[in-house]
Amino acid sequence: MCGIVGYLGNRNATPIILEGIKRLEYRGYDSSGLAIIDGNKNLKIFKESGKIVELERALPGPDETYGTIGIAHTRWATHGEPTKINAHPHTDSQKRIALVHNGIIENYQLLRKKLEEEGHSFESETDTEILVHLIEHFCLEEVSLTDAVRQACKLVEGTFGIAVINRDNPNEMIAARRGSPLILGIGNDEFFVTSDVSAIIIHTKRVIYLQDNEIVTIHRDGFEITNLENERIDAKISEVDWDVSSIEKGNFKHFMLKEIFEQPISVQNAFRGRLMEKLSTVRLGGLMMNGNELKKIKKIQIIGCGTSWHAALIGKHIIESRARIPVEVEYASEYRYKNPIIPENTLVFVISQSGETADTLAALREAQARGATVMGITNTVGSTIARESDAGVYIHAGAEIGVASTKAFTSQVTVLTLLAILLGRMNHLSPTYGATFIKELRSIPGKIEKILEMNDLIREIAESIKDYTNALYLGRGVNFPVALEGALKLKEISYIHAEGYPAAEMKHGPIALIDENMPVIAIALKDAIYDKIISNLQEVKARNGKIITIATEGDKVVKKFSEHVIYIPETMHILQPLLSVIPLQLLSYHVADLKGLDVDKPRNLAKSVTVE
Ligand code: AGP
Ligand code: GLU
Repeated sequence: MCGIVGYLGNRNATPIILEGIKRLEYRGYDSSGLAIIDGNKNLKIFKESGKIVELERALPGPDETYGTIGIAHTRWATHGEPTKINAHPHTDSQKRIALVHNGIIENYQLLRKKLEEEGHSFESETDTEILVHLIEHFCLEEVSLTDAVRQACKLVEGTFGIAVINRDNPNEMIAARRGSPLILGIGNDEFFVTSDVSAIIIHTKRVIYLQDNEIVTIHRDGFEITNLENERIDAKISEVDWDVSSIEKGNFKHFMLKEIFEQPISVQNAFRGRLMEKLSTVRLGGLMMNGNELKKIKKIQIIGCGTSWHAALIGKHIIESRARIPVEVEYASEYRYKNPIIPENTLVFVISQSGETADTLAALREAQARGATVMGITNTVGSTIARESDAGVYIHAGAEIGVASTKAFTSQVTVLTLLAILLGRMNHLSPTYGATFIKELRSIPGKIEKILEMNDLIREIAESIKDYTNALYLGRGVNFPVALEGALKLKEISYIHAEGYPAAEMKHGPIALIDENMPVIAIALKDAIYDKIISNLQEVKARNGKIITIATEGDKVVKKFSEHVIYIPETMHILQPLLSVIPLQLLSYHVADLKGLDVDKPRNLAKSVTVE
C-alpha cells in the first residue's frame, strides 16, 4: 500500500528518495522515514509520524544528510500504530543494517519469539522489524548480504517488497519481493529501487519489474538478479511509456481535478487503434483470441473491487444487452473464498486500475487454479495482475495519482463497452449498429469537454450540499452502477455518508430516510426508462427531498421538481455512463475541496490495496 524508494549512484540520495516517496505519498501516508550511509560509513536514520512534510521538516541540514546510497519509505500501518518508532526503516541489533518493507510478514510472531530466544530485542510493534533481525541472524562474516536476505526470504511467510542496506558496504543495496511490487530503475551510472514507477520516471524510464521471489543485488557499476535457489535470472529491461507530465499536478489544485479534466483524452486513448471503421466492429488485440475462440464463450465473469467493480457492473449491463452473453460480476474479496463455479467456456476477467490489488490478484490465481483462462483489464503495464493474467487489455489512462479513481473508471468502462461491441458484432449486432456505435464513441470526448465546462455551476451546487451528512444517489439500468460510483466518490473524499440505489428500489426501504435533510442525486436521462425514473423522483419530491438531477440537454420536465439540474449531452444508451459519471465526480471533488479536506489523500485510504 505504501511506498519504497532507494537510490545508489553518484548524487546525494536524500533529496532523490525524499522526492520519490513524496510522489508515492498518495499510496499510504501515516508515517515515513529514510536511511542513508554517509562517506564515513555512518548509517543515519530519520523518521517521523504523519505526512512526509513532517519528515522533511525534521531533517537536519544537507551536510548531515549527505550520502550516495539511501532508502526511504512511506508507511500504511498494518502492525502497530503509525508512530515514529514503528515507522521504517528498521534496523538490526547492531544498527548496521537498515530495511524498508511493503507488505505483511504473516509468521512474524513465531519468528520474533525464536529471535528473542536468541537474544534479539525489538523496538517496534511491526512485523517488519523481525525481517531485519532475521537478516542479521544470517549475515555472518562469510555470508554476503544477498545470501542473508535470501535465507531470510525463505523463512518468511506473507508478502514483501524490501530494500536493504548495510553500513559496512555503502556500495551495495539489496532488494527483493514476493507479492508486493518492486521495480529496479536503471539510470546512467545510478540505480533506483521503487514500489511504483511514478517515483522514479523523472530520473529514468528504463526499468525491470522484479518477479516474486527474486532478489536484486545492486552495485555502483551494475546489478545481478537471482532467485531463492541462487540461480541467475536474465530479466528484461522495459521502457515505461508514461509521460512525466502525468505525475505532475500542472495548474490544477489537485490530482483528482486534473485527472477528471483529462478524461476527454484518456477515454480517447482507451479506444484509440481499436475501432475498425471498415468492418464496423472493434479489435482488442491484447485478448489474443481469434474469432472462433471468442464465439465459443458462453459466460463471462468479471472480478474487481471498489470503482473497478462498478465499472464491471456497467460492463455486465452492456455485454448482456448487446452481446447476449450472461455476465457475473463478483467482488474479488468474496470470489476467492466462495468456491466459485466456473463452467466450461467461461471467460474470466479481472479488472484493476493498479494491477496490484491483493484481493483481485488472489481471485485471478483462484480462477486460474480452476483451469479458467483469465484476462486482465488494467492500467499498469508490468503490474502483477498484468503479468499473471493469461492475456488482457490495457486501458491506457496514464498515471492516476488521486486516490479516488476517476479517469481509470471511464477508461475501464470504455474498454468493457468495446468488448461488448466486439462480442455483439460476432453475435447478432448489425453493421449499422456497429457503425453508429463507432461514430458516437468518437464524439464522447467532445461531449465530456462540454460537461467539464459546467465546472463552476457544479461547484455552486456542491456548496449547497456540502454540510449535509447523508446523500442518496439514484439511477436505473446502465446508470445504476454510476449512482453507486457517485456515492462511493462522495464517501471517499468528503466523508459524507452516501448510498447508491436503483431508483425504483428506493420505495422498498430508503424512502424512509427522505426528508429535507437528504439530498438526492438522480440520473434521469432520456431513454426507455426515463418516465419510470421521473415517477420515482416525484415520490422523493412529495417527501420534501432535495433533488439534484443529471438530465439530458433540453429536458424541461425535470426542472419542475429539481433543486438543481446538470444537463449533459445526449448519447446512445450504452455510452451514457461515460457522460453521467463526470458531473458526479466533479460534485464530490468540489464538496471535499469546499470542506477543506485533503482531496488527493483521503483519510484511511490508499491508492492500491495490496493487503487482504
Ligand atoms: C476508488 O476510488 C477506490 N479508491 C477503490 O475503490 C479502488 O477502486 C479499489 O481499491 C480497486 O483498485 P484497483 O482498481 O487498483 O484494483
Ligand atoms: N507491515 C508493515 C508495517 O506495518 C509494512 C506496512 C506497509 O506496507 O506500509 O509496518
